[in-house]
Order: sequence, then structure tokens, then C-alpha cells
Amino acid sequence: MPAIVLVGAQWGDEGKGKATDLLGSDVDYVVKFNGGNNAGHTVVIEGEKYALHLLPSGILTPSVVPVIGNGVVVDLEVLFEELDGLAARGVDISRLVVSANAHVIAPYNRTLDKVTERFLGARKIGTTGRGIGPTYADKMNRIGVRVQDLFDEGILRQKVEAALSFKNQILAKIYNTRAVEADEVVDELLSYAERLRPMVADTSLVLEEALAAGKNVLLEAGQATLLDVDHGTYPFVTSSSATAGGACTGSGIPPTRVSRVIAILKAYTTRVGEGPFPTELFDEDGETLRNNGAEFGTTTGRPRRCGWMDTVIGRYATRINGVTDFVVTKLDVLTGFERLPICVAYDVDGVRHEQMPVNQSDFHHAKPIYEYLDGWSEDISGARTFEDLPANAQAYILRVEELIGARVSAIGVGPGRHEIIERHPLLDR
Ligand code: GDP
Ligand code: IMO
Ligand code: MG
Repeated sequence: MPAIVLVGAQWGDEGKGKATDLLGSDVDYVVKFNGGNNAGHTVVIEGEKYALHLLPSGILTPSVVPVIGNGVVVDLEVLFEELDGLAARGVDISRLVVSANAHVIAPYNRTLDKVTERFLGARKIGTTGRGIGPTYADKMNRIGVRVQDLFDEGILRQKVEAALSFKNQILAKIYNTRAVEADEVVDELLSYAERLRPMVADTSLVLEEALAAGKNVLLEAGQATLLDVDHGTYPFVTSSSATAGGACTGSGIPPTRVSRVIAILKAYTTRVGEGPFPTELFDEDGETLRNNGAEFGTTTGRPRRCGWMDTVIGRYATRINGVTDFVVTKLDVLTGFERLPICVAYDVDGVRHEQMPVNQSDFHHAKPIYEYLDGWSEDISGARTFEDLPANAQAYILRVEELIGARVSAIGVGPGRHEIIERHPLLDR
């Protein structure tokens, strides 16, 4: 049976958590394959709000096995806090499986994330300060600590000492902060080992066996296409592979198993942190989008930057991820605008760009070229079929669909689990 990949099309917070939750009852495994607790997914079930950071959104569905894949970076303190928080609310947390190859966010990497940002000053990335970048850097530098290292104190100690032998130089000599004791780090990490042990597995093998047995596996991205370290708006990106390709490396599932790629596209655009954003609004319309869409970060509480729909980005997401189906979320937030601009191309120093410019400096200078559609004022939150939508809302979706080059299979009309229109089945049921 197939593996299905679910990614964000823009700069994150498109509503991936809600979409995963929607598919939850029809899939058997939900795998988080990249990122860590920099993610923030809000899922609303029968009026109850759940904010997930590190755990796959599938944990909220009793029939799903949630999996933390090898491509994830795990903050163990956050993992257990989040698990305990869900257990206290009656969620069954016993099914979680964690990859032995996932990397662990060591406390010194949280410190390094924050001091690096401070050091960068005006050139800062606006990270979530969770230690994501330094932990992936350690992974690539081959000085990272993996989940499996926690079960051999000698190896763990060696790895932490090796990393600290030069990190302490950086902390003390460049950043002028306190050096970190290896013992403290080892003791902290070891304190989680016994609770973690029963959850740990060769998740690539678990998933291969599941697929061979005909199970449905959903690979859920954190972050999004334009935050991907290779394909995003570098350097204003996260440090992991958040696009469809990352689903394979981050889970150990081969590309030949993937049958569908679902991308989540917000009906307008938002961004948290620094970096270019061509359709960003600084006026009343931007405020209206932020307030009506409750665009404040789930992880850091920062107000999200808001702007109009950018279909150059949508087309790019289609190309990079091989999108088969889009879910357009938060269409209800556009209710009440008299006219709706859609960015169809960029003007870069007098030259029209239909495609995402490869040159970041061109993207920084890109001015949106808009097409204007008429808005609607009717409440659409009760719509459950495409035909229930006002004609202008239908026209908006159809035009976006045409411009992004892949079909829009579902449309979000509210935060609740059932506030969605399914135009085409998202899964082969
Ligand atoms: P994620 O990081 O992609 O999972 O997205 P977030 O959870 O950070 O942000 C999306 C927000 O939009 C959450 O608060 C969701 O509850 C909410 N949401 C998702 N879909 C819809 C929708 O169709 N309409 C409205 N109004 N809210 C939605
Ligand atoms: P979800 O999964 C939105 C942004 C940060 C910052 C940049 C790098 O909820 O969509 P990092 O801490 O990852 O090194 O920060 O990436 N960022 C996100 N923005 N949604 C997210 O996740 C994000 N995860 C990271 O704001 O600009
Ligand atoms: Mg989010």
C-alpha cells in the first residue's frame, strides 16, 4: 500500500496539523520526518484545542501509530512534557514510536541557537530559539548525539565531550557565555533514557513492514517548502528538508513507495521570522487577515506577517514537491474583502517572472503583479460542498487552481475538524 506525503506549500502554518487530523481516521501511521519543536500545529477537535510541537498530529487519532522519524531532531524534555500534557487530557500516548537514528537536541544547542541570533543582530534569521539549526549542523558535522546513544553511557559521554571540546571554546571565547559541563549534559540526557527505551525502534523497518502489510502511511512535514534548507528562501529558512524529498530521507521510506503528495496552501500568505515576502501587507488589510485568521504563532506567540495569495509560490511548491493534490485552508478568513488580489507573477527590475527567481536578490526585489477577483460577504463556514460556496469564492479557488497547476482537492472553511469541503478524495479509500 502507498505512502502519502503531506507538506506545507508556503512558509509554514498553513494548517498541516488540521489536514493530518482530517486524514487520521483513514491512515494507520503518521510519521513526522523533519524539524523538531520549532513546529506548532493547532488541531481543534469538538471545540477542544490541541497545540502540538514535536509529536506528529496523528497522535490525536486513537487508531494511528504516531512515528518520530530519523529526520527529526528531538528535545527530550519537550517530548515528555508534550506526552504528559496529552495524557492528562485523556489522549492515549502509548503508541508512539521513535527512531533510534533521530538526533537529540542537546541543551548546549539551545543556548547556541539563541546566542547566534543575538550575534547576527540585524542579519538574524528570527529562529524559534529551540536549538534546531545547531543540532542539524552537528548532524552534518558528524558530532551529533542520536537517540540510540542514550543507551550506552560510555558512548554518550564520548560524544558529548567531543562536541563540547570545541563548542565550549565558541561559547566562552566568541559569545562570552558560560562553558557547559559534559557531566551535566550527560546526566540530563540519561535521565530520559529509561522512559524513552520502550518507544525506540528501527522506524524505517517498522514502516516498510507496515507498507508491505497493506497499511496506509502518512508522512507529515513540519515547516514548509519556502523554509526548506535547499529549496527555501535561504538563509531565511529552517535547517531541515521540509519538502517531499525530505519525506524519504527523513523516514527511510523509498521514493517508489510514495503515491501521492498533498500540499497545504493557505488562501493567503503568512510568514514568521525574517526574510523576503513579496505580497506582504503593511496596511489595514494585513491587520484584518492577522486578526480574522488568528495569525499569532503557536510556538513563539509572535504575530505572523500577512499578505495576499502568491501563486508563483504555489506553482513552485507544485514543482518542487510534485504535488498531486492541494488543500486550500482558511478560505473563510477572506470573507468580507470587497476584492481579492492574487499574485500571478513578479516584476523584478522591469522583468516579468512567472517562476520563482533562483537568485535570492531577485526575490528580495520582486514586486507582485496582481490580478483582482471580486470577494464575497456570506459566511462560508457551514459550506460542505463546493457548490455551497458563493460564486465568487468558487471563482477564487478555480483561478488559484489554474495558476498553481494542480487540483484543489479540499478547502478549509473553519478551524474545526469537520469545517472542510472535500472536492476529490485525498486518499484512495
Ligand atoms: P500548521 O503548522 O501548518 O499545522 O498550522 P498552524 O496550526 O500553525 O496554523 C494554522 C491555524 O489555522 C490553526 O490555528 C488552525 O486551527 C487554523 N485553521 C486550519 N484550517 C483552518 C481553516 O480552514 N479556517 C480557519 N479559520 N482556521 C483554520
Ligand atoms: P510549522 O510546522 C512557521 C521559521 C522561524 C524562522 C525560521 C528558522 O508550524 O509550519 P528555526 O527555529 O527552525 O531554526 O527557525 O523558520 N519556522 C517556522 N515558521 N511555521 C513553522 O513550523 C516554523 N518552523 C520554523 O520562524 O523564521
Ligand atoms: Mg504551525
